[in-house]
Amino acid sequence: MAVSQVGWIGLGSMGIGMSKNLQKYLLQSNAPPLVYTNRTLARGDSLKEIGAIPAGSVSEVAMKSDIIFSCVSNDEVLHQVADEIVSSGDISKKVYVDCSTVHPDTSVAVSNKISQAGGEFVSAPVFGAAPMAEAGKLIFVTAGPSTAMSKIAPYLNGVMGRSVIEMGTDVSKSSLLKIAGNICVISFMEVICEAHVFAEKTGLGSDILEKMLGDMFGPVLESYSKRLTTGAYIPPPGGKAGFDVQLAIKDAKHALNCAQEAGTRLDVSEVALSHLEKARNLMGDRPLDSSSIYGAIRTESGLDFLTDLCKKRDGKP
Ligand SMILES: NC(=O)c1ccc[n+]([C@@H]2O[C@H](COP(=O)([O-])OP(=O)(O)OC[C@H]3O[C@@H](n4cnc5c(N)ncnc54)[C@H](OP(=O)(O)O)[C@@H]3O)[C@@H](O)[C@H]2O)c1
Repeated sequence: MAVSQVGWIGLGSMGIGMSKNLQKYLLQSNAPPLVYTNRTLARGDSLKEIGAIPAGSVSEVAMKSDIIFSCVSNDEVLHQVADEIVSSGDISKKVYVDCSTVHPDTSVAVSNKISQAGGEFVSAPVFGAAPMAEAGKLIFVTAGPSTAMSKIAPYLNGVMGRSVIEMGTDVSKSSLLKIAGNICVISFMEVICEAHVFAEKTGLGSDILEKMLGDMFGPVLESYSKRLTTGAYIPPPGGKAGFDVQLAIKDAKHALNCAQEAGTRLDVSEVALSHLEKARNLMGDRPLDSSSIYGAIRTESGLDFLTDLCKKRDGKP
């Protein structure tokens, strides 16, 4: 069987870690090196250092690759990428795998575009934050044609991920499970932020709350707490968020839209969305993590958006 050329599009917080693990695997397997592109190509310098090959455009990646992965911010960007792949030339026999979090309707629309052009599309959103992407420990949720799923299987479990949840051929289903998971993530974040403000206002203190969260609920929720106590909820000016607030706003809106269409409500997600939007409005253009819900709740309780630790880090009085 001919060895596949693999391509990558999108080197944000998630894409950089995922693509590096993929390149390391290709190298070990004596397969051709990964061909990659990104809007900001320089973000791929560390990927180039380990042998991957930069390309100037999405079209170039599509033309050169048999299997094309992408991980981009939102539905609009995914549509742009898919359009460029379709117009790159003959895509029959090519597989396009997208790992972004998008609305189920977007997955279906993109799948139709790709299949009408003769290619195969797999919707493969992921669970796990940027450090998990770097560690190759993501959870993939996949849906698409079974032939395409078999072709991409070697690159998921044990390479970029630690498990794969297969959802069959309906590509809307993997996006829907990802959105369901995000309802939990954003709701956990909302209550952990509330509990931290409660701990500060009552004098209990955030250290002891964090210890309890770790002991009682385990490392995942403890890591959410650490995004507050380390100041990661508001990176320093010019820094980059682990999970940008704008992406969390997109995810919460997708969840609320799917809930409305299904005739149900997501009250906690609605509250979390209002806090995400409040944080965004309060802090202007500053980079903000999805956990900046914390800053918004702090201001509602008469505290400053920035904790003392963040003020000291940023050299603020
Ligand atoms: N971060 C997380 O914890 C996490 C976890 C699970 C799933 N996700 C999902 O994974 C996806 C990527 O997340 P991320 O955190 O990696 O996002 P990110 O750091 O904001 O990166 C976004 C990527 O999309 C590209 N992009 C943005 N706007 C574009 C445009 N107009 N044209 C072309 N490219 C554009 C960016 O290029 P530039 O580098 O040039 O900006 C970058 O490659 C999102 O759908 C997110 O919801 C994220």
